[in-house]
Amino acid sequence: MQKGKRVGMGLISMSMLAGLTGLGSQAVFAGELERALEYRQGVMNVMGWNMKSMGDMMKGKKAYDSDAFAKHAADLAKAASLDVLSGFPEGSDEGETDARVDIWLDFDDFKLKLEELREASQSLSEVAAAGDKAANGDALGKTGKTCKACHDSYKD
Ligand code: HEC
Repeated sequence: MQKGKRVGMGLISMSMLAGLTGLGSQAVFAGELERALEYRQGVMNVMGWNMKSMGDMMKGKKAYDSDAFAKHAADLAKAASLDVLSGFPEGSDEGETDARVDIWLDFDDFKLKLEELREASQSLSEVAAAGDKAANGDALGKTGKTCKACHDSYKD
């Protein structure tokens, strides 16, 4: 059991653990659900960290540094490319989450909004590699709009 915990709680070890301890399938499902919420919120927080750092530079709250900006932009694009959808299993609007049920009522639109973020953050990271501050600000603004568009529809 200790060993199972150390190597990580994949699906197989989770069910083995449940079998060994006599936990019902309900408890296993609750555990998986919690991990899905943590995963997607983790990805969102990675994006939030990078967006805020870039925003602070553009607003002058932090010294503008085009290399640092470009790194944040690249990390944002990487985070946006992760399969965050796997962290949104159907019906996971319960528990410690701000996700709205509307996500699963129109999952195609939710996916489209993620695609728009991916495109905007990809072009932000390309623009940022060139180091022009005004162009960075413009591309950052466009990316921020894609965050907001999804949050307005799908996040409390
Ligand atoms: C495709 C839809 C979508 C896009 C695009 C999106 N988000 Fe989110 N975001 C969500 C949803 C849904 C939640 C609520 C998740 C939850 O509470 O389980 C969320 C939650 C968050 C949170 C709070 C996480 C927490 O710990 O509760 C942050 C921060 C965040 N998003 C940042 C961003 C940033 C920054 C961007 C753009 C770079 C972005 N999001 C783009 C859907 C999206």
